[in-house]
Formats: sequence, C-alpha cells, structure tokens
Amino acid sequence: MRIGILGTGNMGTALGAGWRAAGHEVLTGGRRGPVSLAEAGRFGPVVLLAVPATAVVEVLTHVPAGVTVIDCTNEVTPGFGVGHPYARIVAARPDLAVVKGFNLCHDSVWRLASRTFGGRALAVPLCGPADAVATVRPLVTDLGCTPVDGGGPERAALLEATAAFAIGLWFGGADAQAILQPTRTDGGVGLMAD
Ligand SMILES: NC(=O)c1ccc[n+]([C@@H]2O[C@H](COP(=O)([O-])OP(=O)(O)OC[C@H]3O[C@@H](n4cnc5c(N)ncnc54)[C@H](OP(=O)(O)O)[C@@H]3O)[C@@H](O)[C@H]2O)c1
Repeated sequence: MRIGILGTGNMGTALGAGWRAAGHEVLTGGRRGPVSLAEAGRFGPVVLLAVPATAVVEVLTHVPAGVTVIDCTNEVTPGFGVGHPYARIVAARPDLAVVKGFNLCHDSVWRLASRTFGGRALAVPLCGPADAVATVRPLVTDLGCTPVDGGGPERAALLEATAAFAIGLWFGGADAQAILQPTRTDGGVGLMAD
C-alpha cells in the first residue's frame, strides 16, 4: 500500500520504517526537507498524521478528500488532562475517514525488532468508521501486532484519554503498565472481576 506520512519526527520515522520493512511504499513529508507535506498528503489512500496535536487541522489541508487518515496524536494538557484532536479533525474535515490509533505506545516501541512481549503480541486499539478501521487493521498486523476494534468515532476520545491518563501515571513515577491485571496462568481471561 502507498502510505503518506505527515511529520518527519519520532512517530513518523518509527512507524514509517516499520511499514517500509513490511513492504509498503512510504513517503514521509515535512515542512522542511526534500518531501513536502503536500506531496506526502496526496501520496496514497492512507496518511499517517504524526505532528503535534495543535497542528492537525492545519496540516490536513495538504490531504485530499477521501483519504483514510491515521491519527496517532496525543494532546496532554496541563495537569495531565486531555485535549481531543480527533474531534477537531472530524469537525474540520468530514470528507476524510479518520482512525485513532497507535497513540498508546512510545515511538521506541515501533523501532523494536519484535513487538511480542511475554509471548503476547502488542495489541493496538483502533477507533473510527468501520470501513476505515478495516483499511488500517492490516497495517497493525504488518507490524507484528494485534488490531483491537475500539469502536466507532465516538470512542476516539476514550483512546485519547487513556493515553493522557497513562502518561500522567508515568510522569508521577507509577508503573502504568501494571494497572491492568495480567492474564491468569490457568487460562482465565483475567478480567477485573476475577
Ligand atoms: N513520540 C511518541 O512516543 C509518541 C507516542 C504516541 C503519540 N505521539 C504523538 O504523535 C505526534 C508526533 O509526535 P512525535 O514524537 O513524532 O513528535 P516530533 O518528533 O516532535 O515530530 C513532530 C513533527 O511535526 C512537525 N510539525 C510540528 N509543527 C508543525 C506544523 N505546525 N506544521 C507542520 N509540521 C509540524 C515537525 O516538523 P519540524 O521538524 O519542522 O518541527 C516534526 O516533523 C504527537 O501528536 C504526539 O503526541 C507521540
């Protein structure tokens, strides 16, 4: 698949390298450098938005209608609150199919040779319109991860809040990974009520 990436920073380079390694054609554009945002924005049917959350609407002016946009941005507000770039994107560009995803892990995770931890593939929740999520799901699988259906566009704010909450815990010195009960060794699913 042809994937345009808007943003030449940590997330753009990390995810771009992973998708290239999986055989995709990737073009990464920025406001400086050899490839412009406009070139990357019209490169293919899927675009990764990898810029600060404050810049999402402005940067998407480089993306034509009908493109599936992956929004990995996080907006952590003072006091580790949460802003909602996904909602701003959808309000400004109803002509795009926007999927929230890839926003829960640090960019270093996407640079690892493997994303299987303790025998479990990293799970990547995706929220957005069902057909757009179906387009993005193989891009999760191609990175050796498991796509998780996170629900429709109305669920994207929860994914944004999940990131902000976890980031707040980490900055406070807690082990944010440890807040969810691990899978039981007897084969049970380890739900909170167990
Ligand atoms: N890094 C992570 O671990 C991580 C994890 C999950 C989600 N995220 C989210 O992913 C997004 C990108 O993060 P990142 O770590 O890749 O950031 P980054 O390394 O700082 O890169 C940001 C990129 O956006 C560009 N940019 C900044 N302002 C712009 C503007 N007004 N117009 C056009 N381009 C602009 C920068 O261009 P210049 O080089 O020209 O400044 C740079 O290419 C953020 O929303 C972040 O919250 C990051």
